[in-house]
Amino acid sequence: MSNKKDSIQNVIKVALMVCLACAVVVSSASVILRPIQERNQELDFRRNILSAAGLLEPGRSVEEQFEQIEVRLVDLTTGQFTDVMDPADFDPRRAASIPEISRNLSNQEDIAGLNRREDIAEVYLVRNDAGEIDVLILPVRGYGLWSTMRGFLALDNDLNTVVGLGFYDHAETPGLGGEIDNPNWKSQWVGKKVYDEDQSVQLGVKKGSVDSSNEFEQRHRVDGLSGATLTSNGVTNMVQFWFGEQGFKAFVQNLKAGEV
Ligand SMILES: Cc1cc2nc3c(=O)[nH]c(=O)nc-3n(C[C@H](O)[C@H](O)[C@H](O)COP(=O)(O)O)c2cc1C
Repeated sequence: MSNKKDSIQNVIKVALMVCLACAVVVSSASVILRPIQERNQELDFRRNILSAAGLLEPGRSVEEQFEQIEVRLVDLTTGQFTDVMDPADFDPRRAASIPEISRNLSNQEDIAGLNRREDIAEVYLVRNDAGEIDVLILPVRGYGLWSTMRGFLALDNDLNTVVGLGFYDHAETPGLGGEIDNPNWKSQWVGKKVYDEDQSVQLGVKKGSVDSSNEFEQRHRVDGLSGATLTSNGVTNMVQFWFGEQGFKAFVQNLKAGEV
């Protein structure tokens, strides 16, 4: 009797049943938890938009705070708002991989290591009671040393002064490139100017420390991350790309001129 119980067929049968039961539990958990994960991802995305704009109030519901944000789509080629799609149906994290609304970048254009760029981008605005723009929050991304760093850079109502920069996704090394999340480093960006008088993008990260007697550096540069020049360069390239001709430059210029 005991021989039959311990037979090889029985052992295999029990092992298979255990495997099957585990597979059902794991896949059910994955299916059941997916909507919760997606919802948390979206909340984190919104939290980062509010944080870049300096509007995040801890302890208050992110959804409630996000109600002050106007979400619009922009055609990057024309630099105009577009209504070709409802922002509710637009996934900014996937847009660059949808062939109909994105294109390959040439080596010369692709300074941020993106390969492809979406033609339509989502932007976020905070308006005052008169309907004028108080803060403009733009999505930015670029390759660091190990990963694509994704975040937001917010501009003040002059559409040139940085209000804040923050990243919601990257895989740079903690303590080195990962210092892009360091609040002290991020605070250096506040007040820096993106464009110079000729409307060239000058904002970026210096290798080493910003010289306090150098007016240009004071205006446009932040300190390099020590031991992480490659990530720092990636951040500079990211800013150069997204505020340049392939990015939001036309849109920002149009907004400044009131031609949007
Ligand atoms: C394990 C490991 C992880 C690293 N991670 C980063 C990183 O995330 N970002 C970065 O710029 N450099 C990183 N580096 C260092 C780069 O290889 C390179 O030395 C550095 O960017 C040069 O910057 P520095 O001129 O400021 O020293 C890492 C090096 C090692 C060995």
